[in-house]
Amino acid sequence: MFNIEEFDIKLDTEVIGRNFIYFDEIDSTNSFLMESKNEKTLGTVVLAEYQLHGKGRKQRDWQASKEQALTFSILLNDKIDLSNAPLLSLGSSLALAQALENLYQFKVNVKWPNDVLIEGKKIAGILIESISKASKMEKIIVGIGINVNQPNFTGKFNIRPTSVRMELKKSVSRERLLSEYLNHFESMLEDWATNPPKLINDWKSRSRFLGEKITIKDGDEELYGVFEDVDENGYLILKTKDELRTIHSGDVTINS
Ligand code: BTN
Repeated sequence: MFNIEEFDIKLDTEVIGRNFIYFDEIDSTNSFLMESKNEKTLGTVVLAEYQLHGKGRKQRDWQASKEQALTFSILLNDKIDLSNAPLLSLGSSLALAQALENLYQFKVNVKWPNDVLIEGKKIAGILIESISKASKMEKIIVGIGINVNQPNFTGKFNIRPTSVRMELKKSVSRERLLSEYLNHFESMLEDWATNPPKLINDWKSRSRFLGEKITIKDGDEELYGVFEDVDENGYLILKTKDELRTIHSGDVTINS
């Protein structure tokens, strides 16, 4: 069971995670914060030991075995400037890369828009959802699933999964990893607001496939080209045969 005291002792933030809600079981931590009318505090973190209907990107499921992973969501609201929401995808994965590097000295890669990989295997996934009113962003929910102490995975996956335990060959403290992530997340928010170029450069220095020939699939649409850059919003710039295209969403794979 998650030890809140152990988590709290290493939490070094002002806002993020200071309002902490714990569930043994819930539908989805993202859905909880999306639907809740009562939880309004900026930086609220909702953690669940098990999600009955964990959501992944593109309407996929996200499954994680009980008490072995970290499945949680962070609430951001209009007490801060939410105007550059798309860049948060990159920022959320960057903060996790930094936390994993710091705690376990992993070499971490980020894959556009927001996957976190170790040696090409997926260690975490991020789902960002938001609510706007009259085209003004009201809240953003950053939902994160980190594979921590799972000993193995069975089933079919888009990208082969791994966990911290599988990479390190030992179990680790989920409490410590969560506090480290939230510490980095709060620092990242500072760059997000005041120094986006720094955030983008830090992300790019860990990026997988930048400069390479890729395929981007979004629904039925498939595009081919070179992963040229990411722009100031965190969108992917794809150099196709005849033009530069700005891509807002999709799944990236390398062309072999
Ligand atoms: C993906 O890679 O497809 C994104 C997965 C995101 C999963 C997390 S787990 C906590 C939060 N609650 C959800 O229902 N989904 C996100």
